[in-house]
Amino acid sequence: MPYTTLLTTLENNVLIVTINRPDKLNALNKDVFTDLNNVADEINNNPDIKSAIITGAGSKAFVAGADITEFAGLNKEQAMALAKRGQDIFFKIENSNKPIIAAVNGFALGGGCELAMACHFRICSDNAKFGQPEVNLGLIPGYGATQRLTQLVGKGRSMELQMTAQLVDANEALRIGLTNHITTPENLLNKAKEILTVIQTKAPIAIGKIIECINIAVVNNSGKSGYDKEVEAFGECFVTEDMKEGTAAFLEKRKAEFKGR
Ligand code: COA
Repeated sequence: MPYTTLLTTLENNVLIVTINRPDKLNALNKDVFTDLNNVADEINNNPDIKSAIITGAGSKAFVAGADITEFAGLNKEQAMALAKRGQDIFFKIENSNKPIIAAVNGFALGGGCELAMACHFRICSDNAKFGQPEVNLGLIPGYGATQRLTQLVGKGRSMELQMTAQLVDANEALRIGLTNHITTPENLLNKAKEILTVIQTKAPIAIGKIIECINIAVVNNSGKSGYDKEVEAFGECFVTEDMKEGTAAFLEKRKAEFKGR
């Protein structure tokens, strides 16, 4: 299938999906979301694909977040629709019955960290940096981090990381359970392929059932309503002066001055 923002290669039944906007640190714009939605369908429907890896182009970033330039002028309803669409696409990835690993090759921030967390598990290179910096923009995460980061690292750490916008390096990510393995940037894809080669020797129906059951265990803990609340709160942030100030400050490359309005 032709994609405008993704590169795909099929090797030994593993689809390698590379988000390809390196000059914008692979930020997730509308086109990337459309392509991710379509590639999730391709992974699910193409019998030649037994598993997939999602990674980012270039040496600097996996994905540096949602594309902030697309935030300008959105009202609450449009912002909620943006968050809902992103969540739905990430649910499709999370609920794929074929294993999808994130190979995090640099910054995985905001929507990038959320995409990585929607994958079944993560491995990373030693230059990886994870984080949810939305509060710097007067915002909250909208693609599932309030739920999935909490599931992965626990409530206290999730609270602190999302309130401080502190970035997490590869070693800390390993320590707190955000990544399963660390390797060199050069070896990252090989490591992902090595793991998937093992998984592909197992019974595919059983693998699909493991994904389904583990996802149910996690959703039962958090409740679907947490995701809905996140969409609403994301929309509410969009109509604040602080959000306008935060995103303008990022685009103008200056420090934001928040007023609590
Ligand atoms: N949305 C849109 N554009 C983005 C982006 C994003 N989330 N992240 C990076 N970019 C763009 C930059 O605007 C810049 O574009 P330009 O060359 O046209 O000016 C380009 O990607 C390179 O980024 P730059 O900021 O110059 O790189 P850096 O090495 O100085 O900093 C980061 C890297 C990741 C720390 C920084 O880009 C950043 O903070 N990004 C935003 C992270 C974020 O808040 N994500 C959550 C969004 S909800």
